[in-house]
Amino acid sequence: MSASRQLVPEDQALKDDIAALGPWFHNLRLRGVQTAPDHFLGDYPEIKFASFRHAIPADLTGKSVLDIGCNAGFYTLEMKRRGAAEVLGIDTDEHYLQQARFAAEVEKIDVEFRRMTVWDVASLGRKFDLVIFMGVLYHLRHPLLALDLIHEHVAKDLLLFQSMQRGCRDIIRVDRDYDFNADAPFDSPAYPKLHFVEHRYAHDETNWWIPNRACVEAMLRSSGFSIEAQAEEEVYLCRWQGIQFPPDGPHCVYPVRDTSRNIGDDSR
Ligand SMILES: C[S@@+](CC[C@H](N)C(=O)[O-])C[C@H]1O[C@@H](n2cnc3c(N)ncnc32)[C@H](O)[C@@H]1O
Repeated sequence: MSASRQLVPEDQALKDDIAALGPWFHNLRLRGVQTAPDHFLGDYPEIKFASFRHAIPADLTGKSVLDIGCNAGFYTLEMKRRGAAEVLGIDTDEHYLQQARFAAEVEKIDVEFRRMTVWDVASLGRKFDLVIFMGVLYHLRHPLLALDLIHEHVAKDLLLFQSMQRGCRDIIRVDRDYDFNADAPFDSPAYPKLHFVEHRYAHDETNWWIPNRACVEAMLRSSGFSIEAQAEEEVYLCRWQGIQFPPDGPHCVYPVRDTSRNIGDDSR
């Protein structure tokens, strides 16, 4: 808001509403009023988005978008501004969802927010042109399961993905197989690694697994997402790919199968 502009009562009411809905993790600008001007990461997520906004199609006309872990809806609202036909934001935290609904109402943007966990995305019963999965993976106790569920149930084309990364940022070539006695590859800092957080990281007990860069990329590929672009240091634009299961079927037990088929019939 310009410093020279007089504060009108309507602005004060908006500021009061924003304060009552705090604390905010997303610094949104609602009719020019910032929701988290003193954010510890700066003007977040705007400052991060500025470095990769070019990687997302500028025109999403007619497309459907699912924003998983939408928080106060920064990306949800932005995708609708890009013309998406329908945008659904889901999050487990009702506090953030209230902020998101308030933001959409103030900005008069027609998007939907639902309280839902990533574990339940199958219940949506449909797929989306663009799935956003930003800043959630490291908050999960079962990160690969989340990627597999997204691949299986809600993604059909693009995935915008971000994870916090810690450790080595180098990428090494990983062999297709190793001898049982091969120990050395695991000592390389660049070998794909997920660092387990037993207690807290950054004072946050919801941080569970923090990957290094090689691990992020390997997890995405392993879950059926090809990396189209590394849009920013931690942000990837990926494309859905079919997974080539070995002839004897998927080597994990949880992908939802068509229950009308016999157990053991993994043909797809
Ligand atoms: C670090 S914030 C990221 C917010 C936003 N996506 C972004 O990139 O700015 C993580 C968000 O994921 C949500 N979340 C955590 N676990 C979740 C789960 N199992 N399913 C859906 N959302 C979850 C949190 O409530 C929080 O809003």
